[in-house]
Amino acid sequence: MEQQPENKDVTRRLVLVCCGTGCQANGSMDVYHALRQALAPGANAEVCTYVKSTGCNGLCEKGPLVKILPDDITYSRVRAADVSEIAEKTLRGGALVKRLLLRDPVTKEHFRSHHKTNFYKKQHKVALRNIGEIDPSNIQDYLDRDGYQALRKALTTLTPEEVIEEVLASGLRGRGGGGFPTGLKWRACASVDRLPRYIICNGDEGDPGAFMDRSIMEGDPHSILEGMLICAYAMGAARGFIYVRDEYGLAVANLTRAIEDARERGFLGKNILGSSLSFDIEIVRGGGAFVCGEETALIASIEGNPGEPRDKYTYPAERGLWGQPTVINNVETWANIPVIVSNGARAFAALGTGNSKGTKVFSLVGKVTNTGLVEVPMGTTLREIIEEIGGGVPKGRRFKAVQTGGPSGGCIPESLLDLEVDFDTLTAAGSMMGSGGLIVMDDRTCMVEVARYYLNFLAGESCGKCVPCREGIGLMLETLTRICEGKGRLEDLDLLESIGKTLQQAALCGLGRTAPNPVLSTLKYFRDEYLAHITGCWCPAGVCKALTGFYIDAGLCRGCGRCLRNCPVQAITGKKQEPHEIDPSRCIKCGACIDDCRYQAVKVKQGV
Ligand SMILES: Cc1cc2nc3c(=O)[nH]c(=O)nc-3n(C[C@H](O)[C@H](O)[C@H](O)COP(=O)(O)O)c2cc1C
Ligand code: SF4
Ligand code: SF4
Ligand code: FES
Repeated sequence: MEQQPENKDVTRRLVLVCCGTGCQANGSMDVYHALRQALAPGANAEVCTYVKSTGCNGLCEKGPLVKILPDDITYSRVRAADVSEIAEKTLRGGALVKRLLLRDPVTKEHFRSHHKTNFYKKQHKVALRNIGEIDPSNIQDYLDRDGYQALRKALTTLTPEEVIEEVLASGLRGRGGGGFPTGLKWRACASVDRLPRYIICNGDEGDPGAFMDRSIMEGDPHSILEGMLICAYAMGAARGFIYVRDEYGLAVANLTRAIEDARERGFLGKNILGSSLSFDIEIVRGGGAFVCGEETALIASIEGNPGEPRDKYTYPAERGLWGQPTVINNVETWANIPVIVSNGARAFAALGTGNSKGTKVFSLVGKVTNTGLVEVPMGTTLREIIEEIGGGVPKGRRFKAVQTGGPSGGCIPESLLDLEVDFDTLTAAGSMMGSGGLIVMDDRTCMVEVARYYLNFLAGESCGKCVPCREGIGLMLETLTRICEGKGRLEDLDLLESIGKTLQQAALCGLGRTAPNPVLSTLKYFRDEYLAHITGCWCPAGVCKALTGFYIDAGLCRGCGRCLRNCPVQAITGKKQEPHEIDPSRCIKCGACIDDCRYQAVKVKQGV
């Protein structure tokens, strides 16, 4: 993005326009250009207003977001048409445009600053520290926030061994899913006496709905480069690779720009900052297969081979890219490294739980009032994330489960909402941290269908190389489909459990080994729902069409006509203020009426 000249002599006011992918989709570039035009130097003599585009602020559904500093005002859902009013009222007149302020969807309270909202006030930003504050295409912005100081510190005051010890002492565990201690991985790689060593950033992010890594790559690319540079120094590596899925266009553009600017400023290339370190980074664009996020498949893909996992009798730290020792870490892991080196391991480890230090970024989506990117200290409870930050389940519906860890994570029930989230508690609960997906489900979610949905995704993404995964996922999917269609048998439950356990033991890679999680966790916590499908012939959530029928409870119906108006096939009849009725012969079981009724009068029939 073209830079705007700075005039440091005049009082400066900063207008930050969120131009992450979510806000761009809602027209933030138009807002940015309109603001640039309205506030061009000279257009506003008394205050020099500097307009910047930033990465994602994490609340995309309320975007485009515009922040005004130092006034600490945040406007939401801003349109280009609002710009003249913002310029006139707020920037020149010092008054607020109330209708653009963030409003708490639960309390309806308006907030001048986003920091005061429930969504933001409990968050603690470490990996996301710069995002939304800097222009990712301007290296100077990164430098102004102490960017590349950690690299300077490492190069000038620490030996490579001391860097590794610092990362080890911080307790940082990989944020890409496995939670392996990063310092141990680095030490293992450094101890292999074969050169060259390589550094890889895993930016594949294949979990549907997750966008933590994309936001960091788009919004703070230099933090990733700096993390990789520090590791390159510790490993004596000269080449690094960032593997990004092809559809992440803005991430690729911002990373490319960051690499070019870092080269120009001497942070990449030969004899970096006058030291003996020479290191450069290339971007490799991936085709978007979920399995290519698995580290050995990713390495194969960079080598130009089919993206299939290989056995892990030797880890990439020993035999990685082109058979050489390789450190591969996730985007969020890399973004934490400069903070650890700058502030010290102890400061980093002060946040978090016994075995999971620091913070974690989650993508909070599904049936929750505030959806978006959330960074909290490890150990924050699921209840705090879902009810306080997320604002709970909307439309008066009941919370049912939260799915954590992406497609091969598990579903956690209401009874475990006070679980303090970290790598180990989630695994003990039959789920996993994964890369940080959190999908909230309400009582209109069928847990059998959820398990079927994820198995269907994983069946399509299995590379098919090993038999347990190729055949096992297929067989589980077939069984779940049968149950959802009302053709389930009681013995199917044992069959699902036994295939699941076999897969956990026998599959070659993490995809196959974790694929049974959605099934095993729903069988553990929501077995009644499976039984209702098999023996009761009904889907309690009213989702599986073969096992669903709806009726209107005459005692609860107020005859408001809302369902009647919204039914796509005119299956509902009734006079105003009199109980309505559904004609089962016309009903196509779309569920619109049960979702729309404000009086909970539409019910799911038992035993269809
Ligand atoms: C099927 C599958 C998909 C994966 N996808 C990703 C991914 O998209 N991003 C990622 O960082 N790690 C992913 N991983 C984990 C990587 O294999 C690897 O553990 C990780 O990149 C290591 O970095 P970390 O130690 O910083 O977490 C995946 C693993 C599996 C089994
Ligand atoms: S477990 Fe599945 S995805 Fe992994 S190697 Fe085997 S077939 Fe491929
Ligand atoms: S479920 Fe859909 S089709 Fe059936 S009555 Fe309700 S709105 Fe109409
Ligand atoms: S892109 Fe603007 S808040 Fe996410």
